[in-house]
Amino acid sequence: MTGVRFYSYDLPGFKKKRLPGKLVVLEGTDGVGRSTQIALLREWLESEGYATAATGLKRGKLAGRGIKSAMQGHTLGDTTMNLLYATDFTDRLERDIIPALRAGFVVLTDRYIYSIIARAQARGIDPTWLRNVFGFALVPDVVFYLQADLTHLIPRVLNIRGFDYWESGADFLAGRDYYDSYAEYQTRLLAQFDAMADEFKFVRIDANRSIHEVFQSLQAEIKDLIKGMKPPKKLMKELEEKKAEEEAKEKEKGEAKKAEEKPKEKGKEKEKLAEEKPKEKGKKKKTEERRVEEARNEEEKGATGGEETAKGGSKWKGWFERLLQSS
Ligand SMILES: Nc1ncnc2c1ncn2[C@@H]1O[C@H](COP(=O)(O)OP(=O)(O)OP(=O)(O)O)[C@@H](O)[C@H]1O
Ligand SMILES: [Mg+2]
Repeated sequence: MTGVRFYSYDLPGFKKKRLPGKLVVLEGTDGVGRSTQIALLREWLESEGYATAATGLKRGKLAGRGIKSAMQGHTLGDTTMNLLYATDFTDRLERDIIPALRAGFVVLTDRYIYSIIARAQARGIDPTWLRNVFGFALVPDVVFYLQADLTHLIPRVLNIRGFDYWESGADFLAGRDYYDSYAEYQTRLLAQFDAMADEFKFVRIDANRSIHEVFQSLQAEIKDLIKGMKPPKKLMKELEEKKAEEEAKEKEKGEAKKAEEKPKEKGKEKEKLAEEKPKEKGKKKKTEERRVEEARNEEEKGATGGEETAKGGSKWKGWFERLLQSS
């Protein structure tokens, strides 16, 4: 990120002024095509050599499952719902988003705080209270607002799952059938997003167009943002060379040892190896414990370490670990 900024107040304990990654948010109402575009963007970015991670609402370990099961009951009050969403958001910010940004990932976020605010405001929650609750949110590098009309949205929603209770605003728009309720609620949401566009500097993307056209617009915007973010070629080459050198040395050592061994000593060697095995296990355990300890220390400093991040993009795990070892 060019510079770390929070909307109203800093995330407690967070001191960094810069993060090398980029935070890209895709916002927009239900069924507009966010998941589709994130999948396409991720594939494109990774094929171009960028490390990417993806996250979205209710995916946090701490509160994600709790929110989902509480929503099954259809009895959640507005304040509780928003505080649960805030909990999930904080958890993901600390555990997933910031660590990935620290490690130089492009983080693709499916919705951010704006959907939560739009939904809450449509239900009459105080806008100032909401901005205060979510005031610790990191200001993203870019927020794309996928904007589509109701006439385009309806077939997309029907295509995936039909109208559901919460997406139809059935919790507060009583006395209508799901279709009318959905149309009314989504119209209110679109108005909320529209009103927030200037305040939060959304980049509007016309999502009434085809999947490919929307993708092309997003690609063009993101290309500019990520210039110069790839791991430097020189560093990558050095890492590859260092690894190859180490492997060659190991191989040489192994061969030399084998050549020295006399067949009659094989029995002795077996015994020795049997003795050494538990020692080696202990050694390995110590290394793992040290790693866990280091990761814990990092978390206590205010942000999670790279190992947590590497989970985001499995393809990048090796690269990231080598990068850590070389630094
Ligand atoms: N631009 C588009 N034109 C036509 N159909 C689209 C477009 N984008 C997505 N779709 C289709 O609409 C449906 C919903 O898309 P998708 O799941 O990506 O939306 P979403 O915004 O992630 O929805 P949700 O709110 O459920 O998470 C899918 O069937 C998808 O193939
Ligand atoms: Mg989706």
